[in-house]
Amino acid sequence: MSNRFSVQPCLPEDAHGIAVTMMSSWWENWHWRYRWADADLETLIKWCETKLPWNLSSNRPAKRHQKAIVNETGEIVGYARWLLPASLAERTGDQVVWKEAQTPKPSVEDARKWEDQWVVEAPKLRSDEMLAYRAQGCEEAEQRIMEGDQIPFLVLDWMTVHPSWQRQGVATMLMKSGLEIADRYQQKAFVIGTSEGAKLYERVGFKTVEIISTDYSEFGGIGPYVNHFMVREPVLKG
Ligand SMILES: CC(C)(COP(=O)(O)OP(=O)(O)OC[C@H]1O[C@@H](n2cnc3c(N)ncnc32)[C@H](O)[C@@H]1OP(=O)(O)O)[C@@H](O)C(=O)NCCC(=O)NCCS
Repeated sequence: MSNRFSVQPCLPEDAHGIAVTMMSSWWENWHWRYRWADADLETLIKWCETKLPWNLSSNRPAKRHQKAIVNETGEIVGYARWLLPASLAERTGDQVVWKEAQTPKPSVEDARKWEDQWVVEAPKLRSDEMLAYRAQGCEEAEQRIMEGDQIPFLVLDWMTVHPSWQRQGVATMLMKSGLEIADRYQQKAFVIGTSEGAKLYERVGFKTVEIISTDYSEFGGIGPYVNHFMVREPVLKG
């Protein structure tokens, strides 16, 4: 398996490949797809691709990005975004943490161009009220977990594997890469997972601290919208 795929840093020019992977995998999640009024997958990929160069190159102190590629073809099949806790993000110069997953500093011109692009109009949402209703329990849970813990987290902000490449260990590879940093710097890690994601995260040491299940059938939602709030303790390696 490890000979087939590699984990590599992301560059702004990877925007198309990452957008295809991100949008195609989330498109398969009914609750995610339901947030959009009428957008099709192609429209979402274009929108995401336009925003990604700025996403990849902004907040460089804290954000870390990695892609998984198929060695034989170079195709991007997975993407993970992590946020360093403040204590690690503030390190500069030779002390920068996990530098290999930090995107290069953009030129002034590129930064300006990508920031302008980033505000591209989003595809129309189905209902702001429905999204606020769905998000409420999650926001409260996140606040409880963040405020109740003095130790800052390494946050897994995005994890996505293209549907054609799932169940082949790609996400596990990306997880291992980030958790190596969590263990090296003895940081707790935090993620909000879907039910599918939760299984993956449990296998690499996360434990569910809270589950928020929201019935939003009054807005047309089918089945509960379930989010697992998960924390992983760092492993001390001898
Ligand atoms: C969740 C996701 C990232 C998993 O990626 P992946 O590359 O297929 O994961 P792996 O192959 O490394 O899977 C490792 C283990 O996680 C669990 N797992 C992965 N996907 C699962 C799924 N859809 N349902 C149940 N368990 C799953 C399994 O235990 C799996 O091991 P196994 O295949 O030997 O049974 C991918 O399905 C995805 O991108 N989904 C859509 C977006 C999403 O839900 N992201 C996570 C949000 S927090």
